[in-house]
Amino acid sequence: MTRTVTITDNETGNKADFPVREAKEGSHGINIKTLHKELGMYTYDPGFLGTCSCASDITFIDGGKGILRYRGIPIEQLAEHSTFTEVCYLLLHGELPDSNQLDDFNHNITDHTLLHEGMRRFINGFNHDAHPMAMMVGSVGALSAFYPSASNVHDHGVQDKAAYRLLAKMPTIAAWSYKHSKGLPFIYPQNSLSYVENFLQMMFAFPTEDYTPDPLHVKALDLMLILHADHEQNASTSTVRLAGSSEANPYAAISAGISSLWGPSHGGANEKVIRMLTDITESDKTVQDYVELAKDKNSGVRLMGFGHRVYKNFDPRASLIRDMCHKLLKEMGGSSPLLDTAMELERIALEDDYFIERKLYPNVDFYSGIILRRLGIPLNMFTVIFAMARTVGWVSHWREMLRDDEFRIGRPRQVYEGSGMRDYVDISKR
Ligand code: CMC
Repeated sequence: MTRTVTITDNETGNKADFPVREAKEGSHGINIKTLHKELGMYTYDPGFLGTCSCASDITFIDGGKGILRYRGIPIEQLAEHSTFTEVCYLLLHGELPDSNQLDDFNHNITDHTLLHEGMRRFINGFNHDAHPMAMMVGSVGALSAFYPSASNVHDHGVQDKAAYRLLAKMPTIAAWSYKHSKGLPFIYPQNSLSYVENFLQMMFAFPTEDYTPDPLHVKALDLMLILHADHEQNASTSTVRLAGSSEANPYAAISAGISSLWGPSHGGANEKVIRMLTDITESDKTVQDYVELAKDKNSGVRLMGFGHRVYKNFDPRASLIRDMCHKLLKEMGGSSPLLDTAMELERIALEDDYFIERKLYPNVDFYSGIILRRLGIPLNMFTVIFAMARTVGWVSHWREMLRDDEFRIGRPRQVYEGSGMRDYVDISKR
């Protein structure tokens, strides 16, 4: 028998039963699609604190236990044994590839790394000091002008091609945005290189010199991409789903997701963390002063890289990134004042009642910037790298949504609290 939940209107006494959509793991969802028909009301949930917008097979998170799994596989195992492109295949297709499938997949991606020369001129049109995220939002949206056939969004072949194109072209767009912001020559992709090697050579090579990426840097960046690849219905993924639900082409939908990611409460936090750590390290403020500031609601200051809507124990990605930070520093040598500040900040905050009571822990962004900095990635490229990694998650959700039997345009409702009906007043009488 289908499990149901009864909702009663205490004023009228009307009640109705609603079926429960059973989750394989985690919390179930009450299917309230007929709520308005039955009780004449909608649900009210700003910020989606208690609302599932869809059912999904892609990523599972248990925020209380600090669990993150892609297609059932724990993030710790993927971090240790997998590569970013293998994880992309897993997220998109639901299973780990065999070696032939992985070769084909890698080949499909390297086949699409070049940008149309018109895109090169497009990127060159941005002001020299434009933020690389601004260039990425614009450039990914502009891809729709180069691939108009992608508008046929229900065609599975079109979906797959858009997925390959996006995965392949994001590193080129990212690196060229950086080169443009520095006035440096664009470096073309090299299809013989791995995904990460290729990105690093487009970022750091010069036409005048040989460039070989450091294997340790490649491994660290590959890990970062794996850890950022998907995170179920976060703000940017939900944005992609909502934008794509109108059957807009994939480049427009992903560009909307990039815009959402940019904000400091989401992907923009990694850039802000380094600014915060630098500020503490280089100013007279002590770590304790900063923690006090973050607790004071009137200061407008939050501890960047702390807190998460879903994780209320620890963020498993933060633990893996912290380990990688230590490993990198050990192998590369030298000290890192920012890592020292970060560790002290974490220690003080985790012993403070304010953070304990609100279950605020370091999130993925707290340590990721320290690694990116160590790899020589400039600050304004941090969120761009996050976008590069999350593209596969966005595309996987976009495809899943379009293939869902219950697919329809997303259209939330509202509780109207404005003026009642009133007459128009002529301008001379106002
Ligand atoms: N520093 C100080 N206080 C905080 C912080 C913080 N970083 N985060 C939350 N709080 C407080 C908040 O003031 C509130 O206190 P009170 O109950 O007294 O009003 C309580 O904790 C609950 O916070 P909330 O804003 O209701 O929580 P939320 O789930 O809406 O927001 C968050 C989650 C990630 C936006 C928030 O924790 C935050 O702003 N963190 C800093 C930015 C950040 O690191 N973002 C990256 C998120 S992880 C990667 C990603 O998703 O892109």
